Amino acid sequence: MTRVLSVASECVPFIKTGGLADVVGALPGALARHGVDMRVLLPGYRQVLAQLPGGAPGAKPSDRAPVAEWDNLFGGFARLIEHRADGRVIWFLDAPHLFDRDGGPYVDRSGRDWADNAERFAALSSVAAMISAEGIGGWTPQVLHCHDWQSGFAPLYLRELGAAPRVRSLMTIHNIAFQGMAPASMIGPLGLPRSGFTRDGYEFWDNISALKAGLVYADKLSTVSPTYASELMTPEFGMGLEGILQQRQEDLVGILNGIDEDIWTPPFKSLAGKAKCRQALRAEFGLPDWPGPLCVLVSRLTEQKGIDILLQALPALLDRGGQLILLGSGAPELESAFLDYAAGHEGVATTIGYDEALARRLIAGGDAILVPSRFEPCGLTQLYGLRHGTLPLVGLTGGLADTVINASPAGLAAGAATGLQFHPITAQALAQALMKLVNLFQDRETWTRMMKNAMAAPVSWDHSAATYAKLYAELAASE
Ligand code: ADP
Ligand code: GLC
Repeated sequence: MTRVLSVASECVPFIKTGGLADVVGALPGALARHGVDMRVLLPGYRQVLAQLPGGAPGAKPSDRAPVAEWDNLFGGFARLIEHRADGRVIWFLDAPHLFDRDGGPYVDRSGRDWADNAERFAALSSVAAMISAEGIGGWTPQVLHCHDWQSGFAPLYLRELGAAPRVRSLMTIHNIAFQGMAPASMIGPLGLPRSGFTRDGYEFWDNISALKAGLVYADKLSTVSPTYASELMTPEFGMGLEGILQQRQEDLVGILNGIDEDIWTPPFKSLAGKAKCRQALRAEFGLPDWPGPLCVLVSRLTEQKGIDILLQALPALLDRGGQLILLGSGAPELESAFLDYAAGHEGVATTIGYDEALARRLIAGGDAILVPSRFEPCGLTQLYGLRHGTLPLVGLTGGLADTVINASPAGLAAGAATGLQFHPITAQALAQALMKLVNLFQDRETWTRMMKNAMAAPVSWDHSAATYAKLYAELAASE
């Protein structure tokens, strides 16, 4: 068994704002089948601890002794709470001064970043390093697996503790757009070595970058699809970090995300069953029974996701009898633009908010799922779509390029197509793809074939879990 500590800022079923949570939640189970003993370290956010028996923040539950305590962790008392469920071990960092508050994991109720985000996640990272260096209850990881900027300092702290050669580290980039920047004045408060504040270290344009720290000091780097791994090394996608990624090219690997097939199981057994789900959706949203495809979209509403170009391209779908139901939340201007659009068009319905159950109904009942992202490290909703025979229409980028087989003449001739891809990622190219989608939908034989292909596409964790297991074993052996 390779022992791995996975440290992240979100994880299903406890806390989720995006795909990171799905991935961090699925990995331990998927990896257990490949000889990996993975334990997870998460922040003890108020809403997370409230879900645990006797785990209220700062409480002293008699039935749950902390497995570690710190009198002063970045300015306050902190302890580690162990939670065991379904054979998994999860450690929550209960640090009330950092995590016991209303609001989201990263932002307050008005949507502003918490002012102390640097300290909050530096604390998480430093606890990851301490567990790695000293172990908990006799368990010490061989590999520390860090996800995104929130655990970016952990490989550096691991070195500072002198544990780095013994415990190896892997830094996974789920999204390079978030880099965990802090002013240089935070070097002292974050306990970072001043000697690392250089271009070859964690300094980034005169600031501190937690993600860059991870990219510089981790032993290996990965991201969540092979195409994004190549894209990251270009100025277009690297967001200023392409240089360090080019330098570390030998250490960077793209491992595609899978989906937890136990969680994302279609609620129907046949295509007739799926048609009923679609009917129910139309009824739920008061949409007329038009002849074209019912498209769905479930997403954070941000620049990344190409929501603005979709607004421009939508007439190409609606004018041909197609419809759209959108579920999302994010940038206020995109939220209101979609609400306004839906109010003026009877073929469009919009729900602003975060709703897991509705996301499932949309993904089950839609004919097609739209993912017009400008960049997409992996993307999960197209994978959920494939599993449910809800054909993905996606931008040709990142993991979307790696997981969908385009209905090009060649893809169709080979009988292999599972969806549609468009490029460049512009409103015009998307409009053309939407027209093509409507045409394909009318060709019932081809569409049904594509649905069957999609549902048979390999979207489970099997392959990627084996790849991670091999990578951990190699890292552990390189002690
Ligand atoms: P990202 O992590 O960039 O947001 P992914 O496609 O990897 O993109 O993952 C998004 C995850 O969040 C999926 O599980 C998706 O179903 C879910 N999701 C996104 N927006 C919503 C929403 N408004 N309601 C429910 N689930 C959502
Ligand atoms: C990020 C990416 C998304 C990816 C997810 C999980 O949030 O934006 O593409 O699927 O992480 O790795």
